Amino acid sequence: MSTLRVNLKNNADNSYDIKIGQDMFGDFISGLKDDPIAHSYVIVTDSNVRELYGEKLKSLLDEIADKTLLLDFPAGEMQKNREVKSEIEDRMLEAGFGRDSALIALGGGVVGDLAGYVAATYTRGIPYIQVPTTLVACVDSSIGGKTAIDTPHGKNLIGAFYQPQSVIIDINTLTTLGPEEIREGLAEVIKYGIIADYELFELIEKKTGDIFNYDINLLSLIVERCCRIKGDVVENDEKESNLRKILNFGHTIGHAIENHSNYTLTHGNSISIGMVLEGLIAVNLGIWTEDDLERVKSVFINAGLPVEIPFDIDPEKLISSMKIDKKSRAGVIEMSLPEAIGKIYRIDGKYAVKIDDEIIREVF
Ligand code: GLY
Repeated sequence: MSTLRVNLKNNADNSYDIKIGQDMFGDFISGLKDDPIAHSYVIVTDSNVRELYGEKLKSLLDEIADKTLLLDFPAGEMQKNREVKSEIEDRMLEAGFGRDSALIALGGGVVGDLAGYVAATYTRGIPYIQVPTTLVACVDSSIGGKTAIDTPHGKNLIGAFYQPQSVIIDINTLTTLGPEEIREGLAEVIKYGIIADYELFELIEKKTGDIFNYDINLLSLIVERCCRIKGDVVENDEKESNLRKILNFGHTIGHAIENHSNYTLTHGNSISIGMVLEGLIAVNLGIWTEDDLERVKSVFINAGLPVEIPFDIDPEKLISSMKIDKKSRAGVIEMSLPEAIGKIYRIDGKYAVKIDDEIIREVF
C-alpha cells in the first residue's frame, strides 16, 4: 500500500468587511469600480425588492460592469428550494455568465441564503456580496456564510458554509419594512441580547416603541451591536463546532415549528416561541430562573411576538423533526440554553446541552 498525502491546511483568508450606513448604494458601486471582484455581476433578488431597489442597483452596476443581469423570484420562504436554485443557475448559464462573474444577494434572509448557495456552487464557486434589506438579514443571515435551501424534510438542510466578499447594510432600507418585518428581525435581535448582551436586551426592553417608529439612530446602533456579536462568534467558530451554537438558541424547536406550519408561521414568530420553550427547558433543568424567562416573555409580547404555538401539533412529530435537524447528534437533540440574560450556559467547555426527549415532551 502506498499513502500519498494531499496537504491542504486551510490558510485561506476569508475575512470581509460589514459596511453599515445610510444611502450606501452609491459608495458600494464606487467601491466595486475601484476594486472590482468580477467582470460581470448578477443581482439575485425577490419580486418585492426588485421593485424597490433591484432596478436602481442594476442601473448603477451597468455603469461599471461588462455585463449585468437582474434575476428575481417570488418572495417567501417557500421559494428557498432546489427548483428555484436551478432556475437561477440555468438563467445565468443561458446568459453566458462564467467564473469571472460575481453575484449580489439583494434582499432578506431567503434571498441571501439561496443566492449565497448559488454562488457557492456555480461553476464550483463565484464570489458574492450580501446586500441585506430586512432587519433579520442585516443582523443575522447576511453575516457568517451560512447558505442553504430548504427541503420537505426540514429547513436549511442542504447548503454550504461560503463567506461573502462583503456585507453592505443600508439602514435606510429598513424604513420601507412593515411592522411585521421589523418584528421578524426583532426576534433575532432579542436573541442576541439573551445569549450575549444584557445591555442590548435592556435597550430593546425600554425602546421597543422607537424601533417600530423606525428611529434610524436606534436601528443603526442595534444593527451594529448585533453584527459585532455575530462577527465575533463567527471569527471564533466559523463552522459551528462549539461557540457558534449559541446563535441557535430557540432555533431547534423554532425550526421544527416553522417547518410543521408549512412556513405559514414566519421564522421570527417560530423562534420567539422556540426561545420561550427552550427557555422553559432551561428553567426545568435548573439552569435558568423563572423570573428571567418571564421578563423575556414580556419583551416578546410587547414586541407583538408569540410565546405559544398557535395551532395543535403532535409533539412526537416535532421531536422527530428536531432529530433530523443539523443541530442534533446521533439522534440526540442538542440545545444552547441561557443561564442568565446575556449569557449562555456552558458545561465542560461546551455550549450545547444534550436534551432527553422526555424533557422536551414535558414542555409541550
Ligand atoms: N443563524 C445562525 C448562524 O448563522 O449561525
